[in-house]
Amino acid sequence: MKDLLKLLDLTREEIALILDTADRLKAERKSGEKHDFPSGKTLAMIFAKNSTRTRVSFETGIFQLGGQGIFLSSADSQLGRGEPIEDTARVLSRYCDAIMIRTFEQEEVERLAQYADVPVINGLTDFAHPCQVLADLMTVREHKGVLAGLNVCYIGDGNNMANSIIVGALKCGMNVAAACPAEYLPDITALDYAKTVTDADFTLTHDPSVAARDADVIFTDVWASMGQESEAEKRRAAFFGYCVDERIMSLAHPECMVQHCLPAHRGEEITAEVFEAHAAEIFDEAENRLHVQKAVMYLLMK
Ligand code: CP
Ligand code: NVA
Repeated sequence: MKDLLKLLDLTREEIALILDTADRLKAERKSGEKHDFPSGKTLAMIFAKNSTRTRVSFETGIFQLGGQGIFLSSADSQLGRGEPIEDTARVLSRYCDAIMIRTFEQEEVERLAQYADVPVINGLTDFAHPCQVLADLMTVREHKGVLAGLNVCYIGDGNNMANSIIVGALKCGMNVAAACPAEYLPDITALDYAKTVTDADFTLTHDPSVAARDADVIFTDVWASMGQESEAEKRRAAFFGYCVDERIMSLAHPECMVQHCLPAHRGEEITAEVFEAHAAEIFDEAENRLHVQKAVMYLLMK
């Protein structure tokens, strides 16, 4: 594993190694034990989109590992003036030990990795959000003890989160049921991957009630992702009936967890009541971004 570009690239064993390493680093952090990681490593962090969790958890994470994060907003670096990603990759590789990038097109991240000599980590594209879903898997495993055999439900837009949940959960042997409107389906590569899985079930439906039945964990995400703000009103209409509310929760397993990558829009994809009833799990999920990303940096940069 040189990079973390998308979960499709990882094996089940690699995902398990990341989660096990994250559990260990989390335990070390909680007990005040020193991490076994060489000091002085630097992580360049390119952001072409907004962020709270990803930026702060990566920057804190590399600091806790004894290194330094370097924040580069696309807007005020030379990327914003058109310097090619291929040149940026080769320059940053001469200074830094790894590069994290949050941008629009997955293809840009893949090109960055192709030209970089150091590991590249995808901090979200329109296609994928692998660090988030690794944190989600870590959180579900912490709460449920296992992953394989659990029923995962995703309700909402067939976006970066949907694509990564489908692939990540199926790779871990979890059954996945996704409910998305017909015009907002997950990416074809995630759906094609689902067809190849033999040890877990995949269901794609337009009916959230079908997807929620007997769920052990329900995921949702915003209806208009970053870059889609101008479509928000149209999307609100298209997603009518896709709110995770008490009725949806009543169809799930009584111990069903709720996960939301955040930020959340209460009253749209999730009600305030369901969000607050599951806030402990949702903020564990946010916390685990730190531990899982430290694990990814540990495994890629050590
Ligand atoms: N979930 C997530 O990636 O949050 P940020 O956009 O705040 O980084
Ligand atoms: N789907 C959302 C996730 C934010 C963490 C977006 O891309 O904006």
